[in-house]
Amino acid sequence: MKKKISPAGKLQGKIELPADKSISHRSVMFASLYNGKSVIRNFSEAADPHSTIDCMRKLGVPIQERNGSENTVEVDGVGRDGLLKPNSDLDCGNSGTTMRLLSGIIAGSGIEARLVGDKSLSSRTMKRIIDPLVKMGAKVKARDNDFAPLEIGRNGMLKPLHFSLPIPSAQLKSCVLLAGLFGDEETKVIETLPSRDHTERLLRLPITEEDGQKIISSSRDAEIPEQSYRVPNDFSAAAFWLVAGAIHPRAEIRLPNVGINPSRTGGMDILQQMGADIKVVNPRSEGVEPVADLSAATSALQPIEITKEIVPNCIDEIPILAIAMLFADGTSRISGAEELRHKETDRLAALSDIFKQAGADFTEFNDGFEINGHPDFRPSAAVYDSYHDHRIAMSAAILSLMADSPSEITGAECTAISYPSFWDDAVSLTN
Ligand code: S3P
Repeated sequence: MKKKISPAGKLQGKIELPADKSISHRSVMFASLYNGKSVIRNFSEAADPHSTIDCMRKLGVPIQERNGSENTVEVDGVGRDGLLKPNSDLDCGNSGTTMRLLSGIIAGSGIEARLVGDKSLSSRTMKRIIDPLVKMGAKVKARDNDFAPLEIGRNGMLKPLHFSLPIPSAQLKSCVLLAGLFGDEETKVIETLPSRDHTERLLRLPITEEDGQKIISSSRDAEIPEQSYRVPNDFSAAAFWLVAGAIHPRAEIRLPNVGINPSRTGGMDILQQMGADIKVVNPRSEGVEPVADLSAATSALQPIEITKEIVPNCIDEIPILAIAMLFADGTSRISGAEELRHKETDRLAALSDIFKQAGADFTEFNDGFEINGHPDFRPSAAVYDSYHDHRIAMSAAILSLMADSPSEITGAECTAISYPSFWDDAVSLTN
């Protein structure tokens, strides 16, 4: 699908964002492992969390979805020993979170299953999860010992693991902790750079701190809590409008009910440091997750330097932060972000291509990039490739709103992976 994006004369109004994708995935997985019923309100309507629902159903978990004014999912959790061997492949679609977290559950439970994904997911490295799972006693067969399809099973008992995260990845951390939930002895994950912490929050896993490192434990002793709550709206979706609001000369965008878990909002801190007029009001909690109402308005942005310590807390927002940097008054830089090469597409290469077409002054490095921005920058109208990556498509769309004449995004349907109403929301702000 091709989408035409016309320059926006203004960006004004309120947007009800999609529900958080990371929390939606986890809510349905953890509710399946809970022994009893959970009612998850405001479950994401996007494609990725539905891949997780489909997989959990194949593992024998009864799950009902009710599309009322608020999408609600009811899960009749079977408990961690109640999962059944699936009689067909578990299709994780485009979703790295589904494949990596589910692999931990499958390895832990000892069930045999084959996990498959689409072309993009089948080209993303799985070695990072295969290595610790094999150490825990799983048998994993993967294409080239690295890529999906993954055939997972186990001989003998699950072994506990003390695992120092080699990369700050919440998917890897969660995979090992979920496998650990099935072990008689404690598995410990040691984290140096903090990544998103939804798994440990929602499962209420024991956490200690030693020498500035966070140690999270899981075992059979950890009682799995009921997962009945309202999923906050997705900060990663909010980020597109926070940037659009800050860079556009006639903007004021309101975003109610957004998750503001500090392990996710590094991108907002960065934008505020750049001088973005972002307001956070009415802070409150939804279950174990903090939520607030956000707004963003026209701002004069200063350049910024982002280094590897903050990258895990803004990893999904870097493409849209790069668009903000284009409109800042000077040179911005980001380093320590090589993980972007392992997302739905190689996001550093995709950004380089888009910025070249837009006529921006952009230099790509192995682990980041440098941008010479200017508040008066006007992108050239262009036909941008989405690379079948939802966050690249939406970043190119926000860039296009700032041009002097219409642009096009090809493969625009991929926004449904995390944000099905993105194109309608963009139109609603310009009307
Ligand atoms: C996610 C973790 C991050 C993020 C992804 C969602 C999660 O991936 O990029 O979109 O829900 O745990 P990594 O763990 O690979 O950094």
